[in-house]
Amino acid sequence: MTTTLFDPIKLGDYHLNNRVFMAPMTRARSGPTGVPTDTVATYYAQRASAGLIITEATAVDPRGDGWPGAPGIYTDAQQSGWKLVADAVHAKGGHIFMQLWHMGRAVLTESIGGQRALAPSPIAAEGALPNSQGVPTAFETPEEMSVAQIKDAVRAFATAARRAVDAGLDGIELHAANNFLIDAFLRDGTNQRRDEYGGSIENRSRFLLEVVDAVVAEIGAGKVGVRFSPTNAVFGISDTNPEATFTYAARQLSKRKLAYLHVLEPALDSGSSMSVGLPQVAPALRAAYDGLLILNGSLNKSDGQDAISNGRAEAVAYGIPFIANPDLVERYQSDLALSEPNPDTFYSGGSKGYVDYPNAVLEPAWDKITV
Ligand SMILES: Cc1cc2nc3c(=O)[nH]c(=O)nc-3n(C[C@H](O)[C@H](O)[C@H](O)COP(=O)(O)O)c2cc1C
Repeated sequence: MTTTLFDPIKLGDYHLNNRVFMAPMTRARSGPTGVPTDTVATYYAQRASAGLIITEATAVDPRGDGWPGAPGIYTDAQQSGWKLVADAVHAKGGHIFMQLWHMGRAVLTESIGGQRALAPSPIAAEGALPNSQGVPTAFETPEEMSVAQIKDAVRAFATAARRAVDAGLDGIELHAANNFLIDAFLRDGTNQRRDEYGGSIENRSRFLLEVVDAVVAEIGAGKVGVRFSPTNAVFGISDTNPEATFTYAARQLSKRKLAYLHVLEPALDSGSSMSVGLPQVAPALRAAYDGLLILNGSLNKSDGQDAISNGRAEAVAYGIPFIANPDLVERYQSDLALSEPNPDTFYSGGSKGYVDYPNAVLEPAWDKITV
């Protein structure tokens, strides 16, 4: 019998209800102090029928925290906010992993108190982020991290993972994608170091593996996943041989028996801005990684089902479809029409375009029913 998107799956320490996962998506609703609110808890609870929710990227450290309104997990207040989220998702029977990021070079100086952003090498990210006045502002050249700063960052990830699990989250996903700090170490366009953290693929993978080992020591391998985006060019990142770089890293992760590897790689013909036309690496990662693989990137229901049927993945993560369809699992299962999201409210703050997308089949308002 063919495995379907709606079959249960064991992932690390957990048994999940289905293979339709919610991809991590920054929604910028946690205010200037990065503390998730009741509204954030409602947003995730509305989507709790996903087999697994992977949260928006969450900062492990103030110097790697530069997305206005994105949450953190390095203060007690942030941790308390996340407890609201975890409790709300669990009350609806869901599972939730927190995506952990250090933004590395993609942070504006003004967001981190006038300090320079940190990166493996002093190579500025391309593009811009809004400053505190909402004006798109170009990135400056980051500071090359010392070995002591690298060790501090490793510790920040481990402490954040501990805080996440203590707040009730089921596990964490390391954001090793989209040019952020771990990815910037992995790819040679952003890592031109000459020490043990740069040069060879083994050396470029060292930071990732030190973070993985520190996090696993803190919370256990069955609560840890990793996300790669081997061929995208977000913020101008690149690698001269993504297949060699990422298959090496995937083989090292296999040995660690993590909960999963999550690969973001839209199909070449998907028209996604995340695809830059490089040959896909996901098939090679499938072969190199001995464990549960999640695929993501501009997939629809039938693409996701094909990936599972053909053994290209065990589970599929959907991003944008979950924004406007909190009940995406039920809609896919019953072949109901999907709602279209409004991109203007992806990062706008406020509850509009956040918690106001209805389910296809409205839940009865039990409090208003009299018999
Ligand atoms: C609003 C928005 C925010 C995103 N934030 C994150 C993020 O915090 N971390 C991450 O790894 N990817 C992030 N992504 C990428 C998504 O996880 C996903 O890879 C991408 O949307 C492609 O999948 P989809 O076609 O199913 O949406 C974001 C995407 C969107 C649209």
